[in-house]
Order: sequence, then structure tokens, then C-alpha cells
Amino acid sequence: MKLGRWSPRRPGDEPQTERQHNASLPSHVRPRTPRDRPVIGAHPRRRRPPVIGVHDVSKTFELGQIRVRALHDVSLQIQRGDFVAIMGSSGSGKSTLMNILGCLDIPSSGRYLIDGVDVSRMDEDELSDLRNRKIGFVFQSFNLIPRTSALANVELPMAYAGLSRPERRLRARDALAAVGVGKRADHQPSELSGGEQQRVAVARAIALNPALILADEPTGNLDSHATEEILRIFARLNTEGRTVVLITHEPDVAAQAKRVLRLQDGRIVDDRRLCGLLDVPPVLRQKSSHSDGATSATVPQR
Ligand SMILES: Nc1ncnc2c1ncn2[C@@H]1O[C@H](COP(=O)(O)OP(=O)(O)O)[C@@H](O)[C@H]1O
Ligand SMILES: [Mg+2]
Repeated sequence: MKLGRWSPRRPGDEPQTERQHNASLPSHVRPRTPRDRPVIGAHPRRRRPPVIGVHDVSKTFELGQIRVRALHDVSLQIQRGDFVAIMGSSGSGKSTLMNILGCLDIPSSGRYLIDGVDVSRMDEDELSDLRNRKIGFVFQSFNLIPRTSALANVELPMAYAGLSRPERRLRARDALAAVGVGKRADHQPSELSGGEQQRVAVARAIALNPALILADEPTGNLDSHATEEILRIFARLNTEGRTVVLITHEPDVAAQAKRVLRLQDGRIVDDRRLCGLLDVPPVLRQKSSHSDGATSATVPQR
């Protein structure tokens, strides 16, 4: 039969491009096109998860018959590069929250994600690696080992992390110099002022170059002068890209952060941003009342 010059087109008869044809095939036989292929490391529309994601976290302590609810359904996200102060009166749950953020304690209910990973799914090895390498802790009471040099104090956690002796020594010296106490490396805690002891503790926290620094009332035992110096060190660490979460009950200290959260009876009752995520923290915009001899808090990467 001779085909005429014209024939009516039915739906399905249209000439198709290769892509249209391929798209109509079932997925298991469809050839992969460049657009289908995953692009490693590039997720233009997907934002990185927050470094800290707390979802409806509660914490209850049981003391015999007494139950103390230290945290009530706390939800909180902290983005990479932020500098957050957590305020609240004594007993409001600040340390309980920090212990959970640092994986030193677990929530009674709710979920806690670091970099989008649920901490409750990590095994003991992953957790200790996280605590050792990704989080730097600083406490109010410095927690230095007495009768042990500053250098050895800074080296200790690196021994747990499995670094060789020469590597530990090198990093410890760099970290002490970075916080302005390089010349005190051989001194024991009792031979150092409170401010110097806290700098040694900060050096210990940053020696492994953690991305997250958690500090629980780090200036609680310091005079105003030493407080300012420690805050400047935290601020520098922050401008170098580290996320800093600092607990304090002092408004002057909280005012140096980029964001301030307030806890009351285990609940977040206020969440205020003082300056942008990428801004220089307030304390570095003021003139220092004196020089601390530290040039940069950066610990060189070797
Ligand atoms: N290990 C614990 N056992 C029992 N109760 C605790 C424990 N830790 C904290 N608490 C209680 O939880 C509440 C919050 O404590 P905490 O987080 O230390 O407050 P903050 O650091 O704000 O002073 C308080 O009532 C405290 O007594
Ligand atoms: Mg506390």
C-alpha cells in the first residue's frame, strides 16, 4: 500500500529525541546520562547540615526517689562558624546541655546530631574519636594535672589519640605558643596564674585542631583582665573557622559572642543573634586593654 504524503499523527508517534526516548524506558535499562551521575562533593541545592542539631532533648537525673529534670524538650541548631554563648542562672541546665553536646552524656529522650550524624548510632570508638579529635573542651576549673608541666598537660590527650611522641611535642609547643604561653611550657600548674592555667587548658583543647570548641564557664575563675584575654583567644579561634559554644552566667562575657541563648529551668527561653555568622566577633573589634603576646591562635597543620 502506498503511503500518502499526509497521515494524521497519533500521540506516541511523534519523533523523539534520544533523551525523550531514554526517559521513557524503565530505569533499570535506561542509559545513564551525565545529569544522572552523582557529582562527588557537589550538592548545590543541599546545604551542609548544622554542626549541632539538638531535637527535643530532655534529660532526667534519678537520685533514689527523686527525679530531677535538667532539660525539657530542648531544640537547637548551631551552624558551622558560629560563636554561641549559653547563659542561665545556676541550676538552669547549662552544664547538662554542654555534656550532651560534647557526647560526655546522653539524652534521656530526643536526638542529638553532629554534622548531621545521630550520635546515638555511633559506637564507642567513633564517639571517643569524635571527643578526641573533633571537640575541644575547656572547663571552669582548668582540669590540669597537678605537678605536671604545661607541655605534658597539653600532650596527654594526644597520647590517647595515638599520636607519636615527637608529633605530640611539636603540636603541644605550637598550641602553647598560639595562646601566648609558649615560654611557660615547663611550668607546673601551681606555678602559673589562673589566666595562664586556662590558656594551657585552651592549648590542650586546640592541639588537635578540633572544629568545635565547647567551654563551660571558662572565665568563671578569672579576673576581668584574664577573662578578656581568654575571650580574645576564643574569638580568634572562631574567625579561623571553628565553632565555639561557650557557657557563662556573666552578661559581659555573653555579649562577646555572635549569638546568645538563655536557659531557664531546663528550657531555652531566649535566642538572640548579636552579629552575623561571618562577622568578626565583638571582642576583636575592640582595642585590647593590653597585649597578650599571642599573635594567632592558629595551630599550624603538619
Ligand atoms: N549528675 C547529676 N545528678 C543529679 N542531678 C544533676 C546532675 N547534674 C545536674 N543535676 C541537676 O540538674 C539541674 C541542672 O544542673 P546543671 O546542668 O549543672 O546546671 P548549670 O550548669 O546551669 O548550673 C540541677 O538541678 C542539678 O542539680
Ligand atoms: Mg554548670
